[in-house]
Amino acid sequence: MDRLEKILEDSLYQQCLYQNARAEVNRKFCHHDFQHMVDVSRITYILMLESGDIRNFIAENGLRDLQQAKELIYTAGMLHDIARWKEYEEGVDHSEAGAEIAAELMAKYGFSSQEIRIVTQAIRQHRGIDAGVTVLGEKLFRADNLSRACRQCPANAECYKYGDMETSRRLLIY
Ligand SMILES: [Fe+2]
Ligand SMILES: [Fe+2]
Repeated sequence: MDRLEKILEDSLYQQCLYQNARAEVNRKFCHHDFQHMVDVSRITYILMLESGDIRNFIAENGLRDLQQAKELIYTAGMLHDIARWKEYEEGVDHSEAGAEIAAELMAKYGFSSQEIRIVTQAIRQHRGIDAGVTVLGEKLFRADNLSRACRQCPANAECYKYGDMETSRRLLIY
C-alpha cells in the first residue's frame, strides 16, 4: 500500500481535501472528507471479500495477489470524491473530474496504465449503476451508500437522495 500512502500525502490530494472542506463548510447534507473516503474504502473491501467477487476481480484483471487487489480497492475508495469541490465550483461531474485527478496521482506514483484504468473506471461509475458496470464500480457505489447513516441524519427530510439510500430503511446494515 506504499503507493497509495504517497498519494494521500501528495499536496494535490491534500489540496483537494481542503477544497472539499471549504466548499462544504455550511453544507447540512453529507460531507466528502477524509473519513468518508476511509469508510467507503473499507466497506468496498468488505463487500468484495464477503461476496467472493474479489476472486473474479483478481482473475479477470490478471492481478498478482490479494495485496495488489486491496491496494486498488482502497485507491478507488480514497480518491472517489476527491473532485467534489469541482462540482460545487465549476458545475462539472465530480466522478469524471475525480477520475482525471486519480489518473494523474496514480501515474505519478508508479501505478501501471492497467491499474489506472481499473480504478478510474470504478470512480466514474460510483454515482450509479449502469450497464457495463465493473465489479469494483458496483461495490464502490453500494459502499458509498452504506457509508452514510441516513436514517439518523437530521437533514434527511430535505435530502433528495434519501429515498434511494439503503440506510434510509434501517438504522444499521451489516
Ligand atoms: Fe461521489
Ligand atoms: Fe462518496
